[in-house]
Amino acid sequence: MREAPEVPAAHSGRSALDVARALAEEAGRSALAAFHEPKEVIVKGRGNLLTQTDLAVERFLQEGLDAEFPTHGVLSEETATDTSTDGYVWVVDPIDGTKNFASGIPFWCINIALCRDGEPLVAVTHDPIHSETFHAVRGGGAFVNDTPVRASDKPTVLASNLGFDIGYDNERGKQQLRLVYHLFPNMQALRIPGSAALGLAYAACGRYDLFVHRYLFPWDIAAGILLVREAGGLITDEAGNAITIRSETAIAGGVAVHADFLREAARYTNEPVE
Ligand code: IPD
Ligand code: CA
Ligand code: CA
Repeated sequence: MREAPEVPAAHSGRSALDVARALAEEAGRSALAAFHEPKEVIVKGRGNLLTQTDLAVERFLQEGLDAEFPTHGVLSEETATDTSTDGYVWVVDPIDGTKNFASGIPFWCINIALCRDGEPLVAVTHDPIHSETFHAVRGGGAFVNDTPVRASDKPTVLASNLGFDIGYDNERGKQQLRLVYHLFPNMQALRIPGSAALGLAYAACGRYDLFVHRYLFPWDIAAGILLVREAGGLITDEAGNAITIRSETAIAGGVAVHADFLREAARYTNEPVE
């Protein structure tokens, strides 16, 4: 795929997408080997874990990106050293879905985005378990491996598969569950993936017609924002406003079901569970 001039090439002359994809896929091979071994975990909070693999993948990606893009920043979850998102910054989640990873649940990924002044230009979400790499460059469409993908064209929530994720904040998690309580059973299926980045990638492919989350960080959503947009979908914050990589909430998927969801959700805001 040809990259737009706004996307800088790497020191080696390769495209930013090629570099990010190669790094994510190589990191994925070692993470996959570690997935099948016993793991030591550090507990960051309830259900919020860290493994040696998160740290090893983070180091590997940081070094690879520094070597190829020495003038760019890197904002990566476990070290988060460069907090500014001015200029070119790689936003990285070394393992998204660490609770799944640590529990032996095969649903996690490596998530990388190149942003300029907070605007995602290149996205790579690599799922080593299923050998799927979701990728996009701004203006070039969204793909899974070499196949173009499109977001859902379902008209309504009733016709849709919904992905919801809960996150680590108790109150926001309960808000999510209250909303699901009110919406259910007026939908086709409900899924809780445990990986926000794969949830967004699945929304870009129409596997989830809509994905909803209320507790996000830049490394969870930077890649997904671009994937969903390039797949012709819509991603906003929970109020339906323009999203940024700093938004903590997201509604992502097909344009029509997004509008229907906002209408439905508005009916239930602050409604208690009976
Ligand atoms: C988490 C996962 C989870 C989501 C959380 C994220 P981590 O990321 O994406 O599905 O609900 O909000 O923080 O901690 O596994 O990188
Ligand atoms: Ca994450
Ligand atoms: Ca992570």
